[in-house]
Amino acid sequence: MASLEKKIFVSSLVLMLLFLGLTIYAFWGLSIRLPSCVTGIEPFTQGQLIEKTPGKYELHYVAHMWYFDPPQIELPEGAEVDIYLNSADVVHGFQIIGTNVNLMAVPGAVNYAKVKFKHPGTYRIVCHEYCGLGHQNMAAHIRVQG
Ligand code: CUA
Repeated sequence: MASLEKKIFVSSLVLMLLFLGLTIYAFWGLSIRLPSCVTGIEPFTQGQLIEKTPGKYELHYVAHMWYFDPPQIELPEGAEVDIYLNSADVVHGFQIIGTNVNLMAVPGAVNYAKVKFKHPGTYRIVCHEYCGLGHQNMAAHIRVQG
């Protein structure tokens, strides 16, 4: 093996190990989870907040032309929330500003993300996918109280 080939091989190996280490750090250190499609849950028609255990919640959002249901909820600081998202009509976006939650609301499917609200404040939810004439008005809020 030529010297240049060895350097390229070692560099590639180091890069792969670095990426693997960063992936493990993102999962365990930063608690970042990829959003996913939940195939075992039927699409729902109403948004709701369910307290499963103290500090742990399940939040069902339904995107409509052109609003989110529920439009506003309140949570305590440190709340851990499983978010399930569904659309009643067309494809919408769903981004909670200030968090890593960024989903698509797809008719007939339920998408999922998990988030922990570590800091108090008002978190805006916006639709980031053009969905019609009222797209720019699609917003909701999560108020996290300290
Ligand atoms: Cu819903 Cu844009």
